[in-house]
Amino acid sequence: MKTWKIALLGLGTVGSGVMTILHTHATRIEKQAGVKFEVVGVLVRDVKKPRRVKVKRELLTTEIETIWEKNPEIVIDAMGGISPALGYIEQAIERKCHVVSANKEMIAAYGTHLHRLADKNGVSLLYEASVGGGIPILNALSQLLKANRITRVYGILNGTTNYILTKMEEEGLTYQEALEQAQEFGFAEADPTADVEGYDAFNKIQIIANLCFGPDTPVLEQEREGIASITGEEMKVCEKLGYRIKLLASAERTDAGCCLRVVPTLVPYAHPLSGVKNECNGVFITGDVVGDVSFTGKGAGALPTGSAIVEDMLNIVRGWTFTPDKEGLMREDVEQSTGVEKVVLAFFTFSKQTNDSQKIRLISFLSGGEGFLHAVETVSSGSEVHVAAVISNPDVYALKALADDLQAELKLRPVLDERLSAAREDAAVLVK
Ligand SMILES: NC(=O)c1ccc[n+]([C@@H]2O[C@H](COP(=O)([O-])OP(=O)(O)OC[C@H]3O[C@@H](n4cnc5c(N)ncnc54)[C@H](OP(=O)(O)O)[C@@H]3O)[C@@H](O)[C@H]2O)c1
Repeated sequence: MKTWKIALLGLGTVGSGVMTILHTHATRIEKQAGVKFEVVGVLVRDVKKPRRVKVKRELLTTEIETIWEKNPEIVIDAMGGISPALGYIEQAIERKCHVVSANKEMIAAYGTHLHRLADKNGVSLLYEASVGGGIPILNALSQLLKANRITRVYGILNGTTNYILTKMEEEGLTYQEALEQAQEFGFAEADPTADVEGYDAFNKIQIIANLCFGPDTPVLEQEREGIASITGEEMKVCEKLGYRIKLLASAERTDAGCCLRVVPTLVPYAHPLSGVKNECNGVFITGDVVGDVSFTGKGAGALPTGSAIVEDMLNIVRGWTFTPDKEGLMREDVEQSTGVEKVVLAFFTFSKQTNDSQKIRLISFLSGGEGFLHAVETVSSGSEVHVAAVISNPDVYALKALADDLQAELKLRPVLDERLSAAREDAAVLVK
């Protein structure tokens, strides 16, 4: 039975999860895959720090050269950040080591470069753990890519923000209270910026797009907004309209390239993503042959993430690597344009002093304006009144100008509701 020599860079949450699984599941791995994994070196910052897992003191080192002296065959990046991780992974590949990474920041920014280097050196590069923790999203995408052209991937890719939004909605907590609770229970970091501002989800959707659309598809548009601006009043209005607010990440192929977005989005109660709660993640993939495929589960944590890494190690043993889509743009792209219309929630906030004529102006604008008005709701809170309208293809500039004119605050949120196009067509038929 072959024994594969493993080097682990990092022994924090993820590295400890990997070590635990390699201990607890050694027999199963031997029986299922007919191989053994032996950890020959572990790179850390501080060798004296107490560890969550049992590890022989002589395996720990702070020197990357000590790791290379052990001649590992698979290097696992569980340390995070760009520097020095990127340099170490480049060295690993040049030394003909296969690489497994959980490092979303590095893979999002340098995945294409690392793939080229890995191809040149004939080694595998896998990074399932970098997106969705234990949910096998990238492996599924890789399998689907063999026959399918992936046109769209969207979903909830950040557990921290999903936890905060769930608590705001279900327990009526403010954003700040929900964030503090998430920090207390270990679902949010002391510095939550990467999660709450949408950077983490954006890295993940970038990794997905790089894999699904390949290096030759230009990014035409990208947008990132976090959840800090979402209020309880907005959630109440959305509830009245039949929606939940979720931080959705999406990657879509269009006529001439792709668009990447991470934005708070209204999801109808009937959509399965609206039921993805707390720290869970959920992803929908659309392939041109397979149609829609979806996954849900825990997107982070030592064991789910460690499980994804060990699966990648076993995939390396089988000779598998991720291969980004090679097709790039094709003539058919023009025919494949989804033509999905833009539906938005326009959320106006007025002071309570606002007079009736202003409100009448707003409602008459909404019902007679450029777009197609699907629904309007209002809620009052403290000294403010909120009017929320769901509109297809609105003239965004006109909406903004109107809000300025009426001295109202305006927030625009995308709405994920394909039923509305059908409703609009039905209405057009009735009018005729
Ligand atoms: N946590 C999750 O649930 C999760 C899920 C998916 C992906 N990830 C990704 O996995 C990676 C690791 O995350 P984590 O939560 O395990 O982080 P963590 O708990 O902070 O652990 C990082 C580990 O890397 C070591 N390290 C960091 N910088 C180093 C350096 N310059 N030289 C040597 N060692 C260094 C640290 O050593 P010391 O212990 O000595 O300080 C520590 O053991 C990140 O890229 C993260 O985004 C995490």
